[in-house]
Amino acid sequence: MKAIIVYHSEHHGNTLKVVSAIADKYNVQLVNVDQPKLVDFSKFDLIGVASGIYFGNFKQSLIDFVEQKLPKSKNVFLIYTHGAQDNGDSDSIRRVLAKKGANIIGAFQCRGLDT
Ligand SMILES: Cc1cc2nc3c(=O)[nH]c(=O)nc-3n(C[C@H](O)[C@H](O)[C@H](O)COP(=O)(O)O)c2cc1C
Repeated sequence: MKAIIVYHSEHHGNTLKVVSAIADKYNVQLVNVDQPKLVDFSKFDLIGVASGIYFGNFKQSLIDFVEQKLPKSKNVFLIYTHGAQDNGDSDSIRRVLAKKGANIIGAFQCRGLDT
């Protein structure tokens, strides 16, 4: 199975720590949305979308990227790190993925260092 994670991590690298740990253990390609490479997402069976939570949402540039570049009807998982004790908010990215007919197979979230 071919898997890739597209991520944004700007504050303390919290989200990057999580996706790097996954990539260390599994054969997963990482793509930083701020340094996007030309990637053919249609070749992947599983696509992760990972972000810190900023002002209640996944990073807007990552949401826009997903809207523009992800093929329809893919298996997708979400990863997000947040400073607040509650779960953060994945509603915006979920709305975009729903429009694409994505199958969200799971989500992982945890608190990250916030200052
Ligand atoms: C500008 C900014 C806005 C943030 N807004 C929220 C927020 O609305 N809710 C929350 O739980 N954490 C918020 N945080 C904390 C981050 O979600 C948390 O530190 C996250 O782990 C950052 O991920 P990163 O280090 O991968 O960028 C905010 C942090 C920054 C810098």
